Amino acid sequence: MIKFDLINPTHIAFGEGSIAELSRLVPQDAKVLLLYGGGSIMRNGVHDQVRKALGNRAVTEFGGVEVNPHYETLLRAAATARDADSDYVLGVGGGSVIDAAKFLAYLVTAEGDDPWDDLKAKRFPQHILPVGAVLTLPATGSESNPVSVITSVKRHLKYPFSNPAARPAIAIMDPSTMASLDRRQLGNGVVDAVTHVLEQYATTSTNTPVQMGYSETLLEVLFEWGPKLLEENTPEARENVMWAANQALNGLIAAGVTEDWSTHYIGHALGALYDIDHARTLTPLMPAVFRYKLRDKQQMLARYARRVWKVSEPDDAKAADRAVALTEDFFRRMGLPVTTSELAPVVISADDVVEHIAALGQMPLGEGRDIGPGEVRAILRLAR
Ligand code: NZQ
Ligand code: ZN
Repeated sequence: MIKFDLINPTHIAFGEGSIAELSRLVPQDAKVLLLYGGGSIMRNGVHDQVRKALGNRAVTEFGGVEVNPHYETLLRAAATARDADSDYVLGVGGGSVIDAAKFLAYLVTAEGDDPWDDLKAKRFPQHILPVGAVLTLPATGSESNPVSVITSVKRHLKYPFSNPAARPAIAIMDPSTMASLDRRQLGNGVVDAVTHVLEQYATTSTNTPVQMGYSETLLEVLFEWGPKLLEENTPEARENVMWAANQALNGLIAAGVTEDWSTHYIGHALGALYDIDHARTLTPLMPAVFRYKLRDKQQMLARYARRVWKVSEPDDAKAADRAVALTEDFFRRMGLPVTTSELAPVVISADDVVEHIAALGQMPLGEGRDIGPGEVRAILRLAR
């Protein structure tokens, strides 16, 4: 097991009706900056529930956070928060809004008009605002992790800022908020969570039986309940997927293991360059990454095939190959693309993708730090 440090202080209130818990969990005297996205919370009743629970606390609202949130928009949100003297950020929405709320928590107190470079270099302000999250789309785990994936339109860059101090103090997870999600967003969410588990699992085998077993359970739950969620969107399916997606990226299964975020980092480049839904950048790439690195990942992929997919193939190479095909098939069944040609009319420029990853200092990728520019190009060729 690799030495690790694990802390997750997010207070989670889970279950139907839990938005009302805001009245107990947000400090009475908080001056709240309520951040939201394109307006889904106005149409599905979530906004009304939030305002009711906040009671007579001072609230300033800032809407219009984009899918794949823009740094430039958040600079405006920070100015609004400063003008209103806000001392608490409440993000209400999916991963984009919650990422934005966490980023805003330190953007408000950051020095200068354009602190992107300082924040990217982890020069975070000492004092940041506390954050609350009301989750309406299970996918990213953002509601209880330290990451904010933010796009600078001016720079054409999408970067995962990570600041432990920005982990939400509270996360409200009410599965009934998922009733208004369409099939596309439900499919995106389930599949994003699956890739999160696999990037912390399908790497090298180490002595981490607890983490491996929990990852396998999360995958089984997502494979069983994801399709049911898409077909019927029942309360049982909602709560199982919402909880699994949270556990997939809250730090727990990453403890002590080797990780490979190459699918996500290449996917973020596609998101920045072509503005594609996050999950749809991942599904064409992950099978290609696995096939390209089949030998290095063979042991874990074979274990995944046998334990999760119940494949009874004794040969490790064949079992690993089967696991990749079954994963790809699942992505397809959930309605996501499995080749980059399906992203048409987008045409991917490998040069631009490589440049994006290099500009962010993320190269080399992979658990063995052996995926450089040539390997990224080869993966993109395999993903076509
Ligand atoms: O903007 P609104 O109007 O709220 O509509 C959203 C948006 O159009 C809608 N939606 C959300 N909840 C809804 C709803 N519509 C109806 N009913 C509801 N209950 O769904 C659309 C997509 O929302 P978004 O927040 O963009 O989706 P998601 O949760 O998939 O978040 C994607 C973002 O998270 C980042 C991605 O890169 C992307 O920017 N990620 C964050 C991570 C993290 N913090 O750890 C890790 C992930 O790997 C990922 O990179
Ligand atoms: Zn993701």
